[in-house]
Amino acid sequence: MKYSIYLFVLILFWSCKEAPTIEQEQHSEIPEAPKIGLIADHAMVVSAREEASKIGVEILKKGGNAFDAMIATEMALAVVYPYAGNLGGGGFMVYRTQYGEIGSFDYREKAPLKAHRDMYLDEDGDYQSDRSKVGGLAVGVPGTVAGIFEVHQKLGSLPMEVILQPVIELARNGYVVTVSQAERFQQYDSIFTKVNGTQILYRNTIKKGDTVRNLQLANTLEKIALQGRYAFYEGDVGEALVSFLKKNGSIITMDDLAAYEAEWREPVVFEYDDLRIISMGPPSSGGVVLGQIMKMIEPYPLSKHGHNSAKYIQLLTEAERRAYADRSKFLGDSDFVSVPIDSLLSERYLSKRMEDFSFDAATPSEEIQPGSLQWIESTETTHYSIIDSLGNAVAATTTLNAAYGSKLYVSELGFFLNNEMDDFSAKPGEPNMFGLIGGEANAIAPQKRMLSSMTPTLVEKRDSLWMTLGTPGGSTIITSVLQTILNVHEFNMNMQQGVNVPRFHHQWLPDEIIFEPEGFPQTLIDSLQKKGYIIQAKQTPIIGKVDAILVRDDGTLEGGADPRGDDAAIGY
Ligand code: DON
Repeated sequence: MKYSIYLFVLILFWSCKEAPTIEQEQHSEIPEAPKIGLIADHAMVVSAREEASKIGVEILKKGGNAFDAMIATEMALAVVYPYAGNLGGGGFMVYRTQYGEIGSFDYREKAPLKAHRDMYLDEDGDYQSDRSKVGGLAVGVPGTVAGIFEVHQKLGSLPMEVILQPVIELARNGYVVTVSQAERFQQYDSIFTKVNGTQILYRNTIKKGDTVRNLQLANTLEKIALQGRYAFYEGDVGEALVSFLKKNGSIITMDDLAAYEAEWREPVVFEYDDLRIISMGPPSSGGVVLGQIMKMIEPYPLSKHGHNSAKYIQLLTEAERRAYADRSKFLGDSDFVSVPIDSLLSERYLSKRMEDFSFDAATPSEEIQPGSLQWIESTETTHYSIIDSLGNAVAATTTLNAAYGSKLYVSELGFFLNNEMDDFSAKPGEPNMFGLIGGEANAIAPQKRMLSSMTPTLVEKRDSLWMTLGTPGGSTIITSVLQTILNVHEFNMNMQQGVNVPRFHHQWLPDEIIFEPEGFPQTLIDSLQKKGYIIQAKQTPIIGKVDAILVRDDGTLEGGADPRGDDAAIGY
C-alpha cells in the first residue's frame, strides 16, 4: 500500500477565536511505511526521535531498568525534540513492573497560586483566547523535573548523574536537524521572534542537516544532575526561570515552584474481551474516556464489520460522541472535584448510553448531552514506550501542550515553556485549542491541574504484558490509542501496521468526523453522509503519532514507530 505521510505542524489559530482546531498539515511525501516494525529479543525504546530512543537503550544496556530509561528518554526528547519534549512542561506515565505491579504517575503542570477562574475573561466576561495560548499567562507550573526525580527515587536503579550524562553530552555536542524539524523552524519563526525577539536558538536559518547545540540546556541539565530537583524548584535554575517569567507577564513565583509535587495515582483499569487495559486517570480524561468507548463497543462484532468499514466508523463515532460529552461535564482534577469514575465506566450506564444508537442514522450531537449518572460513589505532546529485558514496561506521554508550548523560550536555560493553562475550561462552553469544551469540573483554580487527554496505556493479555502505547494529538489522543489497540486485537495487524493504517476521529463537539487523508474512499464517506454524519472535509490532518511496543507470542518485541513523524524504535 502506498502511504503518503503528512508532516504535521501544530498550528494554533491562537489569534482566531472562532476557529479552535487541531492540526494543520504540510504535505511532504516520505518513503513507504514499513510493513513490520523492528523486532528485538530483549528490550526496546520507541520515541519521537532516534537519538532519544538510542539514549534510552544505552541506559538499559548500562544495566538501567525501564524507569532509568524513561528518565533518559524524557530528557533526551527535551534536547532533540523541543517541539514537545520538555523541561518546561509535564506529563503522565503508566507502568507495569516485571512482577506485574501496575501504577500511574502524574507530573502534569498546575495552575499558579495566583490563578483564578476568570483570568482569561475581559471586563465584559468575554474569553480572550490568545492569553491562555501564547506568552507568560499561558504557562502552568512545570512538572517534568519533579517527575523524573520522583520516578528515580521510587523505581530507578542507576545514579541520576549516570542517567543524565549522555543527555548532557547530546545537548553539548548537538544533534542533526531533520527535514520536518527544519520545516517547523521555518513555520514558527515569525511567532518565535514575535514572542521572544531574536533571543531564541531555534531560528529559520537552521536547515535540514545542520547540527544544533544547546549549551544553555546542557548547563541547566548539569545543575539538575548535580543539585537534584532543588536546582529547578528552589535554586539557581528556578530563580532564573521565575525572573524570566515575571518579565514576560506570568504570575508564577518561587512559591509556585516550591509548592510543586508530582503525584502517584491509581491507574484506570478495565477489561475488554480477554484484554486488561491499564491507563491514566484524572487529571487526564484519557483512561476513563478510552474505557467508556471500549465498553460501549465491546458487545458488537467489530472484526465482522471490517476495519474502517462504514459500520465500524459509525460504531466508534457514536461511542466517542457519547464519551466526549461525558468528558465535558464530569472530568477534571480529582484533587479538586469528585470524578465518578466507577459510574462512568459501569456496564449498566454505558449500555444505556448506547440504547438510542442505530446503524440507520447518525445521532446528532445536539441530541446528546452528558449522561445523567446516579452518583453511587463519592465522585504538541510526545509519547514514548519502553520495555526492558526484565519485563518492566513504561508508557509515558509528555507535553508543552501546543507545538513549542507558549512559544516562550528561556534562552538562558535552553528550553520552551508550556501553554497548558489552555487545557482548562476558561469559560463554560468556550472551546479550547482542541475544540474541547468543559465546565465546572475543569474550571481554573489555584494549584489545580488542567484536564488532559493524554492516554499512556498498557495492555495485558492473559495476565501478561502485551502492549505499551500512546500518542500526541490533543483531543485525538484517546481515539488514536483506541484504534491502535483495536487494529491489533480485532483485525490481527502486527504492531507496525496497527500504527500505520489511517485513523479517524469524533469528539461530540464539533459534530463532525475527521479522517486522515488516505484510506477512506469517497463512496464510504458518501454513505456516511447519507446517514447524517457530518464530515470535516476542509481539513484532513494527520491524527496522532503513536509509538508502541507489542510483546509477540514468542516473547520477542515488535516496535511500532509512527511513520507520520521522525519516530524510531531501537532495541536489542
Ligand atoms: O494534555 C492534553 O490533552 C494536551 N495538552 C495534549 C496536547 C497535545 O497532544 C498536542 N500534540 N499534538
